[in-house]
Amino acid sequence: MAAPTKRYCFGNWKMNKRPGDVPAYFADLRQALGGCCPDNVEVAVFPPFLLLGEAVQAGEVFQVTVGAQTCGTAESGAFTGEVSPALLADFGVRWVLAGHSERRHKFGESDGLVAERAKAALAAGLSVTFCVGETLAERREGRLEAVLARQLEPLRGWTAAQWDRTVIAYEPVWAIGTGETATPAQASEAHRVVARWCRDHVQRQPAILYGGSVTAANAAELAAADAVDGLLVGGASLDGKSFAAIARALAETKGKAK
Ligand code: PGA
Repeated sequence: MAAPTKRYCFGNWKMNKRPGDVPAYFADLRQALGGCCPDNVEVAVFPPFLLLGEAVQAGEVFQVTVGAQTCGTAESGAFTGEVSPALLADFGVRWVLAGHSERRHKFGESDGLVAERAKAALAAGLSVTFCVGETLAERREGRLEAVLARQLEPLRGWTAAQWDRTVIAYEPVWAIGTGETATPAQASEAHRVVARWCRDHVQRQPAILYGGSVTAANAAELAAADAVDGLLVGGASLDGKSFAAIARALAETKGKAK
């Protein structure tokens, strides 16, 4: 079980941006990255569905990959309002977020539904960023480990081929969009919980990304924290320049052991 050496810089646009914003965003990002993505860092953006096609085209010229923020649970059928993972693949989308805390908490997605979405994405040949994280109340009650174990449970049955296209994002709910960031030590502690669970239950060592109020100012210390393989960025990914600064911070720091 070799530790992953590749780094990940993922930007979740959430329900932001319009078509007219996309060209300038990618121009800023490209310029601020010096023309192309750092060798050892996969840079991906997760725009709203209707901007995916444009983002794929704008990103592919400098190796920026594109992901969707969720996906449907089947290839096709009577699922009003859902978007098929096969259709996402047709558009050149590479990644899907599964179980983002806003899907879990604002839209009531259960652990089971999150797992179904992730499996459907993998079946369509997409890669999955599987999100987990505790609320403030759960942390205060000392339930961090139990909550993460419960959320990870659906991954127990993943095949080797599914693991090859899965990364985990640890995103404490209390740090998302709040301006309150986990300290590097808190991030490392939770990442080790995830890593231990994966070692003990599925004999895997997936990459683990931290997310929650990451900014260009705090990215370097989080990127350098033990057991952090990448960053999943919301608000600070909306500006191409600040997102590029975060990608550079990841390129300049090495992931350390879990
Ligand atoms: P934030 O969002 O960086 O705005 O806190 C992170 C996320 O939701 O992925």
